Amino acid sequence: FSAFLTDSFGRRHDYLRISLTEKCNLRCQYCMPEEGVQLTPRGQLLTASEILTLARLFVQEGVSKIRLTGGEPLIRPDVVDIIAELKKLEGLKTIAVTTNGMNLAKLLPRLKPAGLDRINISLDSLVPAKFEFIVRRKGFHKVMEGINKAIEMGYNPVKVNCVIMRGFNEDELLDFVAQTENKPLEVRFIEYMPFDGNKWNFKKMVSYQEMLDNIRQQWPDLEMLQTEHTETAKTFKVPGFKGQIGFITSMSDHFCGSCNRLRITADGNLKVCLFGNSEVSLRDILRSGASNEELLQVIGTAVSRKKKQHAETLSKTSDSWMTPHAVCHPLKNT
Ligand code: GTP
Ligand code: 5AD
Ligand code: SF4
Repeated sequence: FSAFLTDSFGRRHDYLRISLTEKCNLRCQYCMPEEGVQLTPRGQLLTASEILTLARLFVQEGVSKIRLTGGEPLIRPDVVDIIAELKKLEGLKTIAVTTNGMNLAKLLPRLKPAGLDRINISLDSLVPAKFEFIVRRKGFHKVMEGINKAIEMGYNPVKVNCVIMRGFNEDELLDFVAQTENKPLEVRFIEYMPFDGNKWNFKKMVSYQEMLDNIRQQWPDLEMLQTEHTETAKTFKVPGFKGQIGFITSMSDHFCGSCNRLRITADGNLKVCLFGNSEVSLRDILRSGASNEELLQVIGTAVSRKKKQHAETLSKTSDSWMTPHAVCHPLKNT
């Protein structure tokens, strides 16, 4: 495995997340302000051909999974072409997308033949009015249509990301679990994380342990499943159910030790951690006409400086939770 993609703690980065755009057609309260975010001028965003040049280089060095994110990746007009080109990269095993699902039903007939392997869809409520409150737009039925269409087209599992916020949707945990009875879904409950300006408050965060206790009251024989060590979710299954559930414990039990991810922002910065603001512009290096070797040197240096873990993890001291410090920019986190 490439030394350039291995950090000083021995973590091998074989999973690359590429943000295709900063734009989004929703305005989730925990992610973006109502007015949206300041967008980078178009000319400073990576072109499809620059994305492919970078992807090719990372795949050559050992990346085997690429996830397209955003903003909302499915609003980028050339997303299908980008996937079709990525599909040609030898060594790339998985092309995935994380989407809000709004354009999914419409695009799936083109995405699947282009080579899209896996789909994660965000959905925070099963009640249309609550969904529309949190995303500040209409569209619940479109997202559900996207989820159902993905199932119909054979995606298995279809992952549903659900950020749990106290006082908003923690009462829907069991309804979400029920969705997994007859459908090949993996509903993943995500601990609410602090991002710059999202009014995060630790009282609003519902921990993994609390969610699990709640669900166990109804489903005492919930079974824990084995997962890959680089998996972000701890997964479980109600015996007899077709799908499964998972918990993404970024706050109460971070998974930094087994992190295998790198990120490229829509404007071409390499980020070695979701949290933290140290970024290096691969776009500028590409545009200066640098060679692959020069690019790899820069990538290698950034990776070698990756920290052991992010600072936002809650630490439990005796019986009180410490509030995390340092937050980072929302959205651009991908
Ligand atoms: P899979 O590849 O299917 O495992 O998906 P994923 O969990 O890697 O990605 P997804 O885009 O579906 O993100 C789900 C949740 O995991 C989101 O809330 C992300 O913020 C969180 N997440 C993704 N990557 C990281 C990471 O590197 N660190 C932390 N702490 N959280 C992450
Ligand atoms: N805390 C936890 N998860 C978040 N996401 C966006 N903002 C937050 C937050 N503050 C999730 C979205 C999406 C995924 C990419 O990140 O729900 O599914
Ligand atoms: Fe858009 Fe996703 Fe942010 Fe919601 S969480 S506003 S869908 S980028």
